[in-house]
Amino acid sequence: MQLQFFILICALTLLQGCNDERAASIYIPNNSSAPVLRSDLDSSLRELIQQYGLKGDPAQQLALPSIETPLAQLGMKLFFSKTLSGNLDVACATCHHPLLGGGDNLSLSIGVDAIDTDILGNKRMLQGNLTPGVPRNAPTTFNIGLWKQFMFHDGRVESTGSGITTPDVAYPLPDPLAGANLAHAQARFPVTSNHEMRGKTFDAGGTTQSCRERLAERLGGYGVGAGLLQPEETQYWLEQFRLAYQQPDAAAKQLITEQNIAAALSEYERSQIFTNNPWKQYVQGDLSAISESAKQGALLFFRKRGESGYDCASCHRGDFFTDEQFRNVLTPPIGPGKGNTDPAIQQDYGRWLVTHNPDDKFRFRTPSLLNVAVTGPWGHNGAFTALDGMVEHMLNPFQSAIHYNPAQLQQANVPSSHLQQNLREMLSCDTDIAGQEYRQEDVQLLLAFLNTLTDPCVTNPACMGKWTPSTDATQQDPQKLQLNATF
Ligand code: HEC
Ligand code: HEC
Repeated sequence: MQLQFFILICALTLLQGCNDERAASIYIPNNSSAPVLRSDLDSSLRELIQQYGLKGDPAQQLALPSIETPLAQLGMKLFFSKTLSGNLDVACATCHHPLLGGGDNLSLSIGVDAIDTDILGNKRMLQGNLTPGVPRNAPTTFNIGLWKQFMFHDGRVESTGSGITTPDVAYPLPDPLAGANLAHAQARFPVTSNHEMRGKTFDAGGTTQSCRERLAERLGGYGVGAGLLQPEETQYWLEQFRLAYQQPDAAAKQLITEQNIAAALSEYERSQIFTNNPWKQYVQGDLSAISESAKQGALLFFRKRGESGYDCASCHRGDFFTDEQFRNVLTPPIGPGKGNTDPAIQQDYGRWLVTHNPDDKFRFRTPSLLNVAVTGPWGHNGAFTALDGMVEHMLNPFQSAIHYNPAQLQQANVPSSHLQQNLREMLSCDTDIAGQEYRQEDVQLLLAFLNTLTDPCVTNPACMGKWTPSTDATQQDPQKLQLNATF
């Protein structure tokens, strides 16, 4: 059968008169029974792929841990444990659940003060009609190990060359306690945030560092933390740490430290590599891996303006689809804003909050687009609850921003009354993309392309099982502080 095809192809090739070596490479065999015809579309894309130096796999040559390692396994248990929050009510997974694309499906995250601490997603509600205290959307933890320089929407954890700077030190000094990598440095902060995990009363008046140390002491049942958790609970964690760190005789005080907690958390997060998507297969030569519409969408994405494209790749660059730079793309300013001492100001100045450089006002880190179809809502504040709305925004930010409708928010009490006023202030600063005319059908093509960036594992609960701890009660901590989420 295959031989017949081959003969047919040779005959066709000869008939067309294109019997040189390049013509022969037009026909690429694939795994299915029919050979795939490389179209003009494929040839144009191949040129762009070469021009941008794409390999399809951003994780290539990086030393990233497997989820099977003992340390990543401990990290997974910690990531899902409410023991790391002041009032034993929030886990990292509350806002970064592997079955919710590594996020929480909310525009603005809800940590402490939830009505039901185990409910995630759109049904998660704050007590007493509170407005959300967390000002930003939870980015996915998927592929976190691929960021080279910045964590957070404003990059406040940054690898500077002389170390990693964090909010604990004056920017851009290196933080001596940042740890070995960006994920480790980052993992030490959510536990210190009142709205995310700490609550109002835990280690009240303490510093970020004392908060971390008190949490470690409570988990290990030593120091001032002795007796705060049940003895079986602290014993359980001591066993888990001894196993993971391969120190069977070490004492809790030596093993259960804020540094070892962060190291384990980051090892788990860095094992979440989900890059095996159809686009990668396509870049690596399987021409049938993506649809014709997705190919057309890819052309629009990579081609420059004036060459029938929208130049999305000027910022969403490379195999990780980000240049890790900060840009003002006029994301509609909804939500409480960040870092304002006056609650009447509901503005988020983005990168400026870190650098205080006037040019950085309203600039946010270019996100990766891997798995973007499952990481909504989109934008640093989750202003867009549909991916087509986000894509339309990127095509013409100004038009989209002035016509933005907060009714699309699926979450109660997200402040939006300052929208127009805040937008005027944003427009007074430099923006980084000019609007452009676009065809409505191009939105659908771009979406078709973006959908090829989803690793099938992330939408398959069986595949994600490896990154989710067992819900079997006998496998869990004795005090039942593991997050067993309902959506
Ligand atoms: C209440 C929800 C919430 C909880 C709980 C939470 N996070 Fe987050 N996380 C967020 C939000 C919101 C951001 C973005 C904040 C910003 O950029 O200012 C974020 C950012 C991050 C990032 C940076 C991602 C990136 O692309 O730069 C990582 C990694 C992360 N969190 C890991 C964790 C870990 C580990 C824990 C537990 C120790 C945790 N988070 C707990 C909401 C949460
Ligand atoms: C000037 C740089 C730049 C260009 C050009 C650009 N983007 Fe973006 N894009 C960004 C930044 C910055 C954000 C984050 C905005 C925020 O967080 O508020 C973003 C966000 C996004 C998001 C949301 C991702 C998420 O996880 O929230 C999508 C989807 C997206 N862009 C697609 C596109 C497409 C499609 C194009 C081309 C039509 C494009 N972008 C062009 C910089 C750019």
